[in-house]
Amino acid sequence: MKKTNWLPATAIVSTDIALIKYWGKKDPILRLPENGSISLKLKGLTTTTTVKFDPNLKNDVVVVDEKIQDPDSRTFKRVTKHLDRIRKIADFSIFAEVNSTNLFPKGTGLSSSGSGMAALTLAGCKAAGLNLSERKLSILARQASGTACRCVCGGFVEWKDGEKSEDSYSESIYPASHWDIRDVVAVISEGEKTISSTEGHALAGSSPLFEGRQKHINNKIKKIKKHIDNKDFIAFGELVEAEALEFHSILLTSTPPLIFWLPGTVAVMHEVRKLRSEGILCYFTLNTGFNIHVLTLPEYQNQVAKRIRATEGVKSILLASVDGKPEIKG
Ligand code: DP6
Repeated sequence: MKKTNWLPATAIVSTDIALIKYWGKKDPILRLPENGSISLKLKGLTTTTTVKFDPNLKNDVVVVDEKIQDPDSRTFKRVTKHLDRIRKIADFSIFAEVNSTNLFPKGTGLSSSGSGMAALTLAGCKAAGLNLSERKLSILARQASGTACRCVCGGFVEWKDGEKSEDSYSESIYPASHWDIRDVVAVISEGEKTISSTEGHALAGSSPLFEGRQKHINNKIKKIKKHIDNKDFIAFGELVEAEALEFHSILLTSTPPLIFWLPGTVAVMHEVRKLRSEGILCYFTLNTGFNIHVLTLPEYQNQVAKRIRATEGVKSILLASVDGKPEIKG
């Protein structure tokens, strides 16, 4: 039966931080990753997106953080392309108004495309009257942004690389309640980075270190799952930090090299090591950007937050804990 009532739907989705990173694509169109990845969802770093299909609209309207997006902009094109995927599944061609707001700076290495594209998937499917399983939503979200396929899930999340579209999706491996990890995010700059992750992925194979990474990545995934299972924070943190540095070694040795760190990013890395030498357990990780996450346990969070906030080059901090599943209304 054809859909006749066009009600808005809203999704509130937190972003995630990858513990073992997704880097490189074996299929850039379908966004099939070179390797699996593991992340945790971050309560407090959310994107809220409302989608309303409207038979009176002559084209899609996309508003992000209160700014109407130019139809020629990268964001507008990415959003409409994803709306087209949703329209194709729902079998209609009605335009939509999309309104999205982020509670954290976008385009700065904090994976706003992950929460953004996951929120668009969840709100868009709901507004289109589709009732897809979490797996199908993850597969659909992946095509808009790799990290989005993890963001439709909650807690500690695993994305299995898969050989074809239907088997490349994410699942929660532990709920948020499994382990209370805290994240102190150091915002070094709110200015958008000049090269996107999508552009960066294409360069992964140009690093002479990439092949070596691929040889041991599955072993890293196995190990991080064991440390999460055992709630062994030291083993967990050491692996997460080493992974972040290995990932950035790939970026630094790509052609052309990708250097995202700013002085404040490096200052935080040193401060984290100093904190550890004082017995305050914390470990850093970062994606393609200058903003940096410091993972810690609840008993250390206040001290870590105070010291990171006072570190030279840090503009502000954001506090997060592990989040559950996204919220969908409408
Ligand atoms: C470095 O998901 O932003 O954050 O699939 O092209 O949208 P696209 O890339 P994106 O890649 C981000 C990768 C990363 C690591 C990670 O989150 O796993």
